[in-house]
Amino acid sequence: MSYKDHISIDKLPGHIAVIMDGNGRWAKKKGNSRIFGHQNGVTAVRETVEAAAELGIRYLTLYAFSTENWNRPKMEVDALMSLLVSTLHEETTTLLKNNISLAAIGDISQLTDKVASQLQATIQKTSHNTGLKLILALNYSGRWEIVNAVNRIRDEIISGKLNQNITADIFSDYLNTRNIPDPELLIRTSGEFRVSNFLLWQMAYTELYFTETLWPDFRKENFYHAIVDFQKRERRFGKTSEQLVAERSGALSISTGSMCHLPKCRSINELKSND
Ligand code: FPP
Repeated sequence: MSYKDHISIDKLPGHIAVIMDGNGRWAKKKGNSRIFGHQNGVTAVRETVEAAAELGIRYLTLYAFSTENWNRPKMEVDALMSLLVSTLHEETTTLLKNNISLAAIGDISQLTDKVASQLQATIQKTSHNTGLKLILALNYSGRWEIVNAVNRIRDEIISGKLNQNITADIFSDYLNTRNIPDPELLIRTSGEFRVSNFLLWQMAYTELYFTETLWPDFRKENFYHAIVDFQKRERRFGKTSEQLVAERSGALSISTGSMCHLPKCRSINELKSND
């Protein structure tokens, strides 16, 4: 029996984000170099992408290289970058065959020409695909992304292009994840319980799933288990269980003025005063 059989296809998380952690420890346990761990991490990447595409997940974001990862030994950084180039090169055909499009978030301008050009080539080649959108977070950090958005907003206010109050929706448009829904599920491997500067704004309502499994050992079955766990949770978005039950049975919760379960939705009182 596979966890896959317990997944409700009509309640899939639209966007899953993954912090792939534990490559170094996995390699050390085997008496090998950290780079060996990263190389084996590619198998887990392949399995996860394949599982997500097969299930019909719309967005999958992988934290492949954080802004802080530049602080690692140069040899490890170089190995990670060349692994990225070779994996993208080798997997482009598979992405095309599986209707997967590639995108990237992060400060791409700081990547080497070789990495940037391979990345752009794969993004361009897969741009017409309509299935899973695979997003690589590269030279990414949540704080960088937020500060970058603030500076862009400042520039547009100064130039007169922007002259309205900034709402959460407007702010989201200045993030790298513009037009990408917030993740509903975050998976972090290796028994660490942190979000490590990943998608800080976007994870306001994300369900967090932590597993002891080290990233190179992560397989489809682990991915399915995370989704089954997610589907057992009650996502309240600040409401009570009773309100959710009433809404599910078709009743509009007039008493609190709420129009729907999503944080972006306006209350009845707002609608009355604004419309
Ligand atoms: C964290 O493990 C992992 C990384 C910083 C890099 C992840 C990269 C890959 C899985 C390889 C290539 C990726 C793609 C998308 C082709 P760690 O090194 O922090 O492990 P540790 O915590 O045990 O030291």
